[in-house]
Amino acid sequence: MYLVLLGPPGAGKGTQADLLSRNRDIPHISTGDILRSAVDEETELGEEAREHMERGDLVPDEVVIGITRQRLAADDVADGFVLDGFPRTVRQAESLDSIMQQDMDGSLDVVINLDVPETELIRRMTGRRICPTCGRNYHLVFNAPRSLGECDECGSDLIQREDDKESVVRQRLQVYQKSSKPLIDYYDDLGLLVNVDGRGSVEQVYEAIEDLIG
Ligand code: AP5
Ligand code: MG
Repeated sequence: MYLVLLGPPGAGKGTQADLLSRNRDIPHISTGDILRSAVDEETELGEEAREHMERGDLVPDEVVIGITRQRLAADDVADGFVLDGFPRTVRQAESLDSIMQQDMDGSLDVVINLDVPETELIRRMTGRRICPTCGRNYHLVFNAPRSLGECDECGSDLIQREDDKESVVRQRLQVYQKSSKPLIDYYDDLGLLVNVDGRGSVEQVYEAIEDLIG
């Protein structure tokens, strides 16, 4: 199954994509994770992306489309994927359609839009901790690791994301309102959009998604 998760920063895209990926045995592809690794490794891509990410702005379309095209050329996407954080603009969505048609002879099955109010988004992002090794997401209160400060999966020390400072969080929310909302209309018009209330617990939201996509 080819799935896309849409939703504002902090809505739970990464958390739900991770569960969908494990339970359905399809790769979880996050452009945010790919870009953060590139920044950490100080590659050319990372150097280009860094300033945009630190400000809470989008990385230019052509850069992100190039990364995604390359990732979707791998063999592991033959039976499906869950895309998290891409597309984020209508131009990216149009490129995804053409990459899937031309290179994969396929098309998206469903686009899940996670809806969460802004006060909750800020609470989620400021309490978030991530594993720098395997990328798993946690929250200090809502989704705590078994051992404080350590990843359940690989034992690495958890860190806070650079862009989870409150000023950057607010800019990311504004950018989302402007650039990414038209995507909801784009996918609605194509009949692919499914809205999910993202306010419940991680497990409740996951069950709601599974019920809707079958
Ligand atoms: P990206 O990494 O994609 O960040 P984002 O979209 O801002 O979303 P987040 O990762 O912050 O939130 P999420 O929805 O994944 O929530 P999570 O599951 O972690 O992008 C970062 C930057 O990279 C962008 O700003 C941009 O610069 C660049 N970029 C990336 N893709 C791009 C693209 N396509 N085009 C251009 N630029 C791009 O959950 C949040 C927290 O809440 C966690 O702590 C989690 O444990 C907790 N939580 C999750 N679910 C629940 C729940 N149900 N109840 C309580 N807590 C919960
Ligand atoms: Mg994420």
